[in-house]
Amino acid sequence: MALSPGDPSSYSRPDIVKTTHIHMDWDINFQEKVLSGTCTYHLTKVDPSATSVLMDVRDLDILSIKLENTGEELKHNIDRDTSFGSRLEIALPSDCSKDFRILIKYSTTAKCEALLWMEPNQTSGGVHPFVFSQCQSILARSMLPCQDTPSLKATYSASVTAPKDINVLMSAIRKEENQPVSDDKVKFSFEQKVPVMSYLIAIAAGDIKSKKIGPRSHIWSEEKYLEMAAFDFSETEKMLQTAEELCGPYVWGIYDILVLPPSFAFGGMENPCLTFVTPTLLSGDKSNSTTIAHEIVHSWTGNLVTNVNFEHFWLNEGFTKFTECKIMGRLHGEPYRHLLGIRDWPSLEECVNKNFGANHPLTRLVPDLKGVDPEDAFSVVPYQKGQAFLYFLETTVGGASEFEPFLKSYYDKFKYLSISTNDFKEYFLEYFASCEAVKTIDWDTWLYSPGMPPVKPNFNQSLAIPVYDLAGRWRKWSVDTSVACPFNEEDIASFNPIQTMEFLNSLFNGEPLTLLAIEKLTELYKFNESPNKEILYRWIRLGLKLQFEASAKSAVDLVTEVGRGKYVVPIYKDLYAWPEKRQLALDNFEATRFKLMSSARNDVAKALGIKE
Ligand code: BES
Ligand code: ZN
Repeated sequence: MALSPGDPSSYSRPDIVKTTHIHMDWDINFQEKVLSGTCTYHLTKVDPSATSVLMDVRDLDILSIKLENTGEELKHNIDRDTSFGSRLEIALPSDCSKDFRILIKYSTTAKCEALLWMEPNQTSGGVHPFVFSQCQSILARSMLPCQDTPSLKATYSASVTAPKDINVLMSAIRKEENQPVSDDKVKFSFEQKVPVMSYLIAIAAGDIKSKKIGPRSHIWSEEKYLEMAAFDFSETEKMLQTAEELCGPYVWGIYDILVLPPSFAFGGMENPCLTFVTPTLLSGDKSNSTTIAHEIVHSWTGNLVTNVNFEHFWLNEGFTKFTECKIMGRLHGEPYRHLLGIRDWPSLEECVNKNFGANHPLTRLVPDLKGVDPEDAFSVVPYQKGQAFLYFLETTVGGASEFEPFLKSYYDKFKYLSISTNDFKEYFLEYFASCEAVKTIDWDTWLYSPGMPPVKPNFNQSLAIPVYDLAGRWRKWSVDTSVACPFNEEDIASFNPIQTMEFLNSLFNGEPLTLLAIEKLTELYKFNESPNKEILYRWIRLGLKLQFEASAKSAVDLVTEVGRGKYVVPIYKDLYAWPEKRQLALDNFEATRFKLMSSARNDVAKALGIKE
């Protein structure tokens, strides 16, 4: 079955007939765990000779397809032939006008990978059920029939009914107060006037409350997280303003944050008007609000200037990571920005050298995704290698004073469009045509060679030096614990949380500590009790590497409590690699897999050698 020439992950052909607007008329049914209703598609023939419309679908029950103005049923055909969905071909009548609308009546099924349905006992309130979606990269097609390619952008509107007492949110502006439609149902209406890619269509429903945290921002979440999130994300407005200085005007109106239940598999997701985040960001020390900066930046990189397909995903994530760190630098000083880069570098090394292998084609900045599910290609490579490339380009053109104005003009030039790496490259070369140093850039190695980046950013080490000093002293003491223990709680008192994370990175990546040393370290610094999951996670992995019993217990607790892929996948992998804990890992996954989102569940299953 021929795939779209422009997108190896989609069957749709917006170059022949394109969607300009979708209206969803949905009902949320928690009993059946289905989302059902009718979607109206505003379509335009790009090619006047078009005789059919192609869309992506996956595990949907299509009930009828009609032309809106005549009510005529349209013949359609679904080919079920790939691991990432099916091709829906809808035949058009011969007299179909250039602009027309069709209605598709359908329902999601139990196999829907975009939605996670939770029973009341899986929520913190315990009374009401909860459901939320995650469509990136190519799961929108399991929530609604659509042209599921980021090369296309369309506006959307929605009218959603849900049981009363349930609050419904979408990645859009809520139109008016909810309306009762019967004794036990209410209706919510939404509108997204900025054209968006299918993967940005998002919905969440549950016992969700809100708290205002800024002139254009609210926190939304179950009661449990509301105050904590308002504290941890109190810098949101400052971040938005800094992002606007760097990137241009914010076009989305509001910027709200939805704190999801712990099953959410990602740190954050840049759904427009409403970033989705994991509650694992809440630490009481604000240090994980870098993820908020990250999702804010996507309001330009990704949501305005968009990768044309997921081979060019680094245009979304590399630019976002780079700018996220710039915002943190503006807020907390340049050394802090560099410390973030230092902290995240080992995750790139682990990914490239250990998980994939340095020659693996998926370690290229621009991979070939023909026949590869983008979910399988997902890694830190587009983030970290992309960020390293932008660091390199910034240095090459003479620093931030030259590069930042370029970035701003690049966002302005390509806003509302979907582009490829080549569009970026051409504009960069045009903008810096008179810069001699630009001629020396080895584009092919950076973009298409596998392995670690050819140049490592020259990070300022000032905040890392005291961290390495302490880690070095621990390693030294670890080899001769006969001398009195020279450490105390105060050693790390002056570290900020990112420094503490880098301290644990350093111990993890250096000469292994003895069991006695990690026991003492745990007793003194109490990392096992840290409310900051980034710290707890690093302490757990350090312990698992040393086969420290207490870490195995914390590891199982963490992967049972939270479903964030960044934590559960490596931890399950580590437990699996420890022969005495392998069965425990397998049993725990079996017992708790229902709590995980499809992406995390598939990745853990793979890590545990389970064939799904
Ligand atoms: N857009 C991503 C999340 C994503 C990517 C979901 C691909 C599904 C497929 C989001 O912006 C992101 O990058 N999240 C990171 C946050 C981070 C790098 C600060 C995450 O979830 O860890
Ligand atoms: Zn991102």
